[in-house]
Amino acid sequence: MSNLNRRNWLKHSSMALAGLSVAGQLFGRQQPWQELWDDGAESVLVRIGQNENPYGPSEATRKAMMEVIAQSNRYPGEMALQLREQIAALYGLTRDHVLLGAGSSELLGNTAALAARKKGSNAVSADPTFRLWFGAAELFGLTIKKVPLTSGKVHDLDAMLAAMDANTSMVYVVNPHNPTGTVVADTDLQRFTEKVTQRAILLLDEAYTEYSDAQTLAPMVRDNKNLVVAKTFSKIYGMAGARVGFVLAHPDTIKQLSAWQPWANAGPSAVSLAGAMAALKDQAFVKYSRTNNEKVKAYVTNELNRMGYPVIPSHTNFVYYDASAFKGDLAAAMQAANFSAIRIFEPTTAWRRTSLGTMQEMQQFLKALKEKA
Ligand SMILES: Cc1ncc(COP(=O)(O)O)c(C=O)c1O
Repeated sequence: MSNLNRRNWLKHSSMALAGLSVAGQLFGRQQPWQELWDDGAESVLVRIGQNENPYGPSEATRKAMMEVIAQSNRYPGEMALQLREQIAALYGLTRDHVLLGAGSSELLGNTAALAARKKGSNAVSADPTFRLWFGAAELFGLTIKKVPLTSGKVHDLDAMLAAMDANTSMVYVVNPHNPTGTVVADTDLQRFTEKVTQRAILLLDEAYTEYSDAQTLAPMVRDNKNLVVAKTFSKIYGMAGARVGFVLAHPDTIKQLSAWQPWANAGPSAVSLAGAMAALKDQAFVKYSRTNNEKVKAYVTNELNRMGYPVIPSHTNFVYYDASAFKGDLAAAMQAANFSAIRIFEPTTAWRRTSLGTMQEMQQFLKALKEKA
């Protein structure tokens, strides 16, 4: 780890930990895992590739996590129960509608496993989309039927319905969508949900809803056993490293999904659970994250458009843009300039995704982009 990077990292950490006696023990000297935050380069790697929240975790969340460290010798079953109740209250549901996971990606896998129980089943999904669960699903025996997005990079709900057949056991929709940042209209999605769930599970991934005006469909799980809504603390709550996610579903469905989690202590740690509970209460931070994201998004969208990189209007904390104007390998060029910034989901095209960091990080990114172009 470079000195500069370590100094920055320690500065951030120690600010959060000021006054807590454990700070010295934890952060006074370099830990082996701190290497993971660095690529070995001399300057700081700007991490704008994984749609993380650059402002989190909030002060209240960090404090709650620090206070619970000493209880890490105990299994956190009661805390998991409390968090489930807190989440349920937020969505007008009961704790029996909530299943926690170490991030929501784990629960996407569980849902795919449930859908794969019938041999020869398939799952309908947009293309491109968030595909982290594809590998596990295919291993379980699900075939993935990929349906292209519309020319505006939006889910083509009609085409997805048309792609369903007698063997379709799951349909996956991300709203707002990753990687393109688009949303489908709430009423269209509701109608689509009603149709799909008569025949298959709809796995609705709402990882980014809080960054947008899109309505959550969580209340629909009360009366619909085939709807599974996945959400995460990794984005607006700024806790990607803490690994907390959850799904909302009918209690009967939650029971089935729980089969892949042997017991109540299988998921997030006590420290992560404490952080998540504090984060849910800290709605001021949610607002702060969203407001800052909006400012940065408007600036970056405007600049990229001006530089000749057309941007799809984003409802998330990342932008998807056509980088045809860049001659050469954009990802490699930006990596060489110390930006982990370019993700490719359509390899035969010039469409690229970049996450939104702080205003300063994005100004640096745009400056480097201009210099390299
Ligand atoms: C659409 C979508 N779903 C799920 C996740 C996974 O989040 P988690 O960190 O909770 O596993 C991500 C993370 O980038 C995502 O973009």
